[in-house]
Amino acid sequence: MSTNWKYIWEKVTCSFQCDRDSVHGPAHWRRVERNGLFIATRSGAVLDVVRLFAVFHDSRRQHDGPDKSHGARGAAYAASLRGVLFQLSDQHFELLDYACKWHAHGRLSDDSTIGTCWDADRLDLGRVGIAPHPAYMSTEVGRKIAVDSSLQSFLESAEAGAGTEGTLV
Ligand SMILES: [Fe+2]
Ligand SMILES: [Fe+2]
Repeated sequence: MSTNWKYIWEKVTCSFQCDRDSVHGPAHWRRVERNGLFIATRSGAVLDVVRLFAVFHDSRRQHDGPDKSHGARGAAYAASLRGVLFQLSDQHFELLDYACKWHAHGRLSDDSTIGTCWDADRLDLGRVGIAPHPAYMSTEVGRKIAVDSSLQSFLESAEAGAGTEGTLV
């Protein structure tokens, strides 16, 4: 079964309980996906897990305030659609489950896929006025992007320095 990403996004977006323009809503999920896919080009993360994390990790928020269990609810929602809207091996689902459950608990990970998911999410903190910090990044490329505050700034500074050694690693 090939994954119908468009349908997954439509279904998850339609069942999101907060306002559509919530800081934890679909626009944020899209930036997490973009960040994650970029980081994955250097971290070797499992792409399907990164993309599923992006769409599910905040999907079960009930409000935009403190809500430590929203990641666990997002993981449970993903589990309910596994085999229905997407296929994932047990090994890869464990990564998705862990990444969703613990993404808001301030942890770091040595696993390249989990680390990529968490970095992708934290690199979007600028949307709420918080500068991402390299100390809270799990991957090397995540730390480099955090120095520039966002993927956009990182790419712009890399482009400005194109031709100089070691800019875009
Ligand atoms: Fe979250
Ligand atoms: Fe998030």
